[in-house]
Amino acid sequence: AESPLDIVPVAGRIGAEIRGVELTGDLDDATIAAIRSALVRHKVIFFRDQVELDDAQQEAFAERFGKPVAHPTVPVVPGSKYLLELDSKEGYAASSWHTDVTFVDAYPEASILRAITIPQAGGDTVWANGVTAYEELPESLKTLVDGLWALHTNAYDYAATFSGASRKQLEQHRSVFASTVYETEHPVVRVHPESGERALLLGHFVKNFVGFNSADSQRLFSILQDHITRPENTVRWRWRAGDVAIWDNRSTQHRAIADFGLQRRTLRRATIAGDVPIAIDG
Ligand code: SIN
Repeated sequence: AESPLDIVPVAGRIGAEIRGVELTGDLDDATIAAIRSALVRHKVIFFRDQVELDDAQQEAFAERFGKPVAHPTVPVVPGSKYLLELDSKEGYAASSWHTDVTFVDAYPEASILRAITIPQAGGDTVWANGVTAYEELPESLKTLVDGLWALHTNAYDYAATFSGASRKQLEQHRSVFASTVYETEHPVVRVHPESGERALLLGHFVKNFVGFNSADSQRLFSILQDHITRPENTVRWRWRAGDVAIWDNRSTQHRAIADFGLQRRTLRRATIAGDVPIAIDG
């Protein structure tokens, strides 16, 4: 059906800007449903200039959108219920490809990220489409991954993720992000619970493929990750303060681009609860 929203695609395979909507906790059901369906279709959606959106309104919108949950290990922004702060002042940006919080069984279905302070240049975020990545695999590789499972954990190499951070900052970061260690297994091909599409589910929390030794895991992981994240399969967003991006965390990966030196970059994320991934064979 035709969407009632003004939707402008940003890249060829993923990402669209939605114009003329002000995100608040007061949006009606029809608008929320239209936003949710645009999200499933475009996988990441962008809203410019959400000037009214403060912490409380971001949380109120998140509550209209779904069931917001706090991060499993990182304390919330003081005074907020669920918001996670991503702040470059400690020397890092989440600059390796991942899907949020895949180290738990029922990981989030969506994330709502609001830009507060953005460098004059740099600090873009890039998203990749897990569905087109799967569709465009050679048949023989599809057959290989269709029955494959991967072990995901938050006890991974933080130095690979947070470029620009000192050793001490990385240690401090690890002590918060992995204060409780989680591990779970997910199918590598996830059937999307709303669209029925098949998406590759990988990202930096993957430790190894079940039944593979670590050397073989590493090589297969690189092949699949490189395929998912090739530029043709991505969209890149040049932030302005006040922008909001919402991504479908069931069908995408993303990363920040840590090219902004010591400039400040601050965003706040509300994360929406999701369900346990379903494999192709159920
Ligand atoms: C995130 O990984 O949720 C944040 C990405 C970013 O900082 O651009």
